[in-house]
Amino acid sequence: MRTPRRAVLRGLAAVPALAVAQAFAGRALASAPPVLRAAPATWQLAPSEYAATPVWAYGGTVPGPLIRVRRHERVRYLFENGLDEPSTVHWHGIRLENAMDGVPGLTQHAVEPGQSFLYDFAADDAGTYWYHPHVRSWEQVARGLHGVLIVDETEPVAVDRDEVLLIDDWRLEQDATIHESFGSMHDRAHAGRLGNWVTVNGDGAFVMPVEQGERLRLRLVNAATARVFDLEATGLAGWVVALDGQPLDTPAPLARFALAPAQRVDLIVDVTAEAGGEALLTSYERDGSYAAASFPVVGTKRSEALGEPSPLPANDVPALGDLAAARRVALAMAGGAMGPLRKAELDGRLVGIEELVQAGKAWAFNGSATPPKVPLVTAEVGQTVRIAMTNDSRWPHAMHLHGHHFRKVSADGTTGPLRDTLLLAPDEQAEIAFVADNPGDWLLHCHMLDHAVAGMSTWLRVQA
Ligand code: C2O
Ligand code: CU
Repeated sequence: MRTPRRAVLRGLAAVPALAVAQAFAGRALASAPPVLRAAPATWQLAPSEYAATPVWAYGGTVPGPLIRVRRHERVRYLFENGLDEPSTVHWHGIRLENAMDGVPGLTQHAVEPGQSFLYDFAADDAGTYWYHPHVRSWEQVARGLHGVLIVDETEPVAVDRDEVLLIDDWRLEQDATIHESFGSMHDRAHAGRLGNWVTVNGDGAFVMPVEQGERLRLRLVNAATARVFDLEATGLAGWVVALDGQPLDTPAPLARFALAPAQRVDLIVDVTAEAGGEALLTSYERDGSYAAASFPVVGTKRSEALGEPSPLPANDVPALGDLAAARRVALAMAGGAMGPLRKAELDGRLVGIEELVQAGKAWAFNGSATPPKVPLVTAEVGQTVRIAMTNDSRWPHAMHLHGHHFRKVSADGTTGPLRDTLLLAPDEQAEIAFVADNPGDWLLHCHMLDHAVAGMSTWLRVQA
């Protein structure tokens, strides 16, 4: 007897949301798309002697469901807003059509409570991406709304295991509830909302058993709204193979590295710690260090060393072309505590610092604390654009460009790896270049999300 298709679907509906998401991801179903619902939930962030923490979550889990498709398949989800406030989903780092970028007021209307929106786009670039709201993101992301999007290479990459490590930083009260101090002026004018509780994959004591000699692909994602992690792996040796989802031309030997908010790094590492021992991912802070993730070595997979992995296959990102002929614009980034911001434009009006603070602003891009009416640059499709950013402040910033990947241009004209989020140190200047090949209006903002709302947001237009 044939199993009726409806019965199969009903059976699947009983499976937990994560499994359903993975089972459905990427299939060109003519039927209803799977649902990605944002709603209040609880999650055990703190040790078990504490109560579970009330959070906001996609699909009831922190992080949200892992969405995984193969390159050139479609990501198709019906986003349902189960929150009491508007929201959207932004698919961070993946090149997609502008209408699917999830930016309210720029690419779509915000999705009101109880409403839904169909996100449907081709995932043409392999890599590690993530998704999060773009409405009141300094609060919505910090309450737990974020998840990982993986686009697999067409040919499988030779590793024993492929694992996601989403690292996050929470500001918790003594009772493990989330501290309600969202959007405070202090956070806005300083480093953003730094937390006091670090989790990996929603777990404050993340443990992943491994075997000696095992080859792992680790996809690290920093979902924190402010904290720059300074990370080092021990008992794991290998290479950085991709940054912000984009493959390096040549894998780079793994050393201690910084992971700024929104950045990703893909590693291919071999477990070098002995069976019975432990490998660690250590996070360094100014006043000490702690294990962000621990990898107890529970056996031996192989004893001979594997060689250097081949580079991941590159995505179809256009080459930069003639940098000398590129369009050039400057972005002056100013403000913050101990900064020189005395006045700036607020919705087109030049006002003093008191009025800026009243409006919750602490920063300005090119003298404006609100996104300008006119884009920072209007580029023709295919034009190469250079943006020279000057961080005239005492604070680091993680600058993110939507819809494109860029390269950092050094003073000598050499270019760095493709990225979508670049960390600028205090007082650092950095120039980025990219081919504006994706028509539409795209944000350029600091991914310290309290900074983004407090003045560090602008946008550009790519004209078809
Ligand atoms: Cu991940 Cu505009 O952001
Ligand atoms: Cu910033």
